[in-house]
Amino acid sequence: MKAEEAILAIRDGLRVFVGSGAAVPLGLLDAFCARAKQYKDVEVCQLLTLGPAPYTARELDGHVRHNAFFVGANTREAVQEGRADFTPVFLSEIAGLLRTTMPIDVALVQVSPPDKHGFCSLGVSVDIVKVAVETARVVVAEINPQMPRTHGDAFVHVSRLSSIVEVDHPLPELAAEPIDETARAIGGHVAGLVRDGDTLQMGIGAIPNAALAALTNHKDLGIHTEMFSDGVVDLVEKGVITNAKKTHRRGKLVTTFVMGTKRLYDFVDDNPLIEMRPSHYANDPAIVAKNRGMVSINSALAVDLTGQVCADSIGSRIYSGVGGQVDFVRGAAKAENGRPIIALRATAKNGTISRIVPELAAGSGVTTSRADVHWIVTEYGAANLHGKNVRQRVEALVAIAAPQFRDELMAAAKARRWI
Ligand code: COA
Repeated sequence: MKAEEAILAIRDGLRVFVGSGAAVPLGLLDAFCARAKQYKDVEVCQLLTLGPAPYTARELDGHVRHNAFFVGANTREAVQEGRADFTPVFLSEIAGLLRTTMPIDVALVQVSPPDKHGFCSLGVSVDIVKVAVETARVVVAEINPQMPRTHGDAFVHVSRLSSIVEVDHPLPELAAEPIDETARAIGGHVAGLVRDGDTLQMGIGAIPNAALAALTNHKDLGIHTEMFSDGVVDLVEKGVITNAKKTHRRGKLVTTFVMGTKRLYDFVDDNPLIEMRPSHYANDPAIVAKNRGMVSINSALAVDLTGQVCADSIGSRIYSGVGGQVDFVRGAAKAENGRPIIALRATAKNGTISRIVPELAAGSGVTTSRADVHWIVTEYGAANLHGKNVRQRVEALVAIAAPQFRDELMAAAKARRWI
């Protein structure tokens, strides 16, 4: 049917789920938003999506309210202005919410055409879309022949779809962030902590890209991650990522979603190497921990001198979300020979602000706690905080802070009697 007809399933007071990442059903969202002023109290929840998020428009106040499990560029302003909500949650635990206290009324998703057995693939985003499709009262799907047909736990039978809208358009793309000198230095220090045969998780952005770019001389790396982008394709093509030494799902590249360019989407299309898994499986710390030599590489906005990591807010201003950071930090910490790494630039705002701080700014979220933290990496080096007392942490962190801030950081630590 037409999108305008399909979205009539949405009524006042219902909870609507929107498919994630590059699988966002933009046509359904346009049709929904065209009549959104007629609604009252519709809740729209999602993870991260590419492209516009028109349901966060100011004029839809009172009609539609967005609830973000992770705040992306397209929803940040609405959340920061108090017109949309943020739900802090581990990515591995969202499926549990959708199955219990946050049931979905209508799921708007995008899938590949059905195969000869009637199975559509969820394509580039399986993450929490799989559970939404399994549990929603109504599932409205765009079927797009340009959606890659990915393998793994990625399939939904066409009989599960309440209504279908046929579309035919390329997926939204995310260009790789350029690697500057600082990111390259950080990538080099991260690469120094990675051994041949390790299994990696990495997040999105310039720092994970730089870490991947620094790994070209490694051997037999494996991937068990929440998401990946084009940098992983380079390493597969160079023969660096073989997944041959993995101790869990050997030979398979496990992920929950992918986001990048058309080259990446072509790479995952009908590729048995790629095992798409829901986030409640791939991010489960107990599953992550099955990978011997598991190395998690995530980023942060600030770290205090005791090792508390803030990754989701700048002071009280919500910036992103918890995502899979803590899932993978804990999984890697439990894995045999595992190494959780938080890698961040030592400064922000052109070197005027240190991201290593005596205390997190008031209102900051503690994403990774000081008991969970292990490795912190900046462009000045790497520090392992695990097992170190606060005095030793201060010394280790000051040594990898930007030089112009080291004296004041040490003075602040002394004033607090930490050293
Ligand atoms: N004080 C003030 N501003 C700060 C700051 C600080 N301490 N730290 C960063 N900023 C500013 C930066 O200058 C930048 O501003 P700009 O956009 O105007 O340049 C902005 O905040 C973003 O910082 P940046 O370091 O570029 O962020 P990023 O894109 O590399 O993302 C995280 C870093 C932490 C936000 C991101 O990794 C994240 O959301 N992590 C949490 C979830 C997670 O780890 N998931 C797991 C894998 S997906």
